Amino acid sequence: MENLTREKEFQAKLDREVKIEPKDWMPDAYRKTLIRQISQHAHSEIVGMLPEGNWITRAPNLRRKAALLAKVQDEAGHGLYLYSAAETLGVDRIDLEEQLLDGTAKYSSIFNYPTQTWADIGAIGWLVDGAAILNQVPLCRTSYGPYARAMVRVCKEESFHQRQGYEIIMTLAQGNEAQKKLAQDALNRWWWPALMMFGPSDDNSKHSAQSMAWKIKRFSNDYLRQDFVDRTVPQAEYIGLSVPDKDLKWNDERGHYDFGPINWEEFYNVIKGNGPCNRQRLKTRNASFKAGAWVREAASAYADKKASRKEVAA
Ligand code: 3HC
Repeated sequence: MENLTREKEFQAKLDREVKIEPKDWMPDAYRKTLIRQISQHAHSEIVGMLPEGNWITRAPNLRRKAALLAKVQDEAGHGLYLYSAAETLGVDRIDLEEQLLDGTAKYSSIFNYPTQTWADIGAIGWLVDGAAILNQVPLCRTSYGPYARAMVRVCKEESFHQRQGYEIIMTLAQGNEAQKKLAQDALNRWWWPALMMFGPSDDNSKHSAQSMAWKIKRFSNDYLRQDFVDRTVPQAEYIGLSVPDKDLKWNDERGHYDFGPINWEEFYNVIKGNGPCNRQRLKTRNASFKAGAWVREAASAYADKKASRKEVAA
């Protein structure tokens, strides 16, 4: 009985838009879904560094290299904010990292696609970070305080990511024939995976209803996906590129673009681990985790030494 009243009070708090803080009572299921979502979000930021990191040494000039370096470093920082936000829910970062490394934890499907040309770096900034902004800005108002506050900082940096990506792809699209072809080829390969980033369709989203009731999620997957299409198609047209969807058509009645069917078989295949780069991404993450063991050992030895010095002094 007591738990029921507490759940009712908890929901009333959410309905009054009161932020939930780490020390507040919360239903176990609320805590569990936040740990699931925030840790997967953090994993996505960290794994998301890999496809772009691949082009830091291949950037066409110093300006592009500096912007890409800054972006990849930002993603690392986003991962750290989000692991810290997850830790406020009583989990250890090392456990979350191990779930990523052993393949039991998910990260965003989009990062399992290869970056084949420099134009892909533009497409990632433009489309992937563009999609991430639409999905992350509402998370600045998510009901869990530490997550919402982490998102405010992340979103400020995402806008730079999207802008630098769009500028790369625009430069190529307005360049010579070969460059324009690179830009169109990148759009062809990244368009549909970017739509899949928003998650399954609403009727197949197992968490959305509860996440929206708990004000973790503010908009549904399909709502954000449609918003992304409506905003991005004019950006493609503006630089003379065509979106690879023969069913794409502005629907005056709806006030939105109608678009073709998403290949859900591909989506579920990728999130099951059978995407083009899943194995490579986990192999790279495991290798860098192993290579970084000495840093973790040194840091914990230093922390222990400092703690024992404090004890002696006390
Ligand atoms: N990739 C991998 N798994 C996905 C997915 C995707 N694109 N979309 C959904 N899923 C998974 C969910 O995790 C869930 O699986 P689980 O129960 O094992 O966790 C299952 O598919 C069902 O999906 P739901 O829609 O029911 O799940 P959610 O309510 O959690 O919605 C989400 C999925 C919209 C991705 C939501 O989790 C979310 O908003 N997460 C936070 C934001 C985020 O992770 N953004 C993407 C990556 S960050 C990024 O792009 C960084 C940028 O800097 C480039």
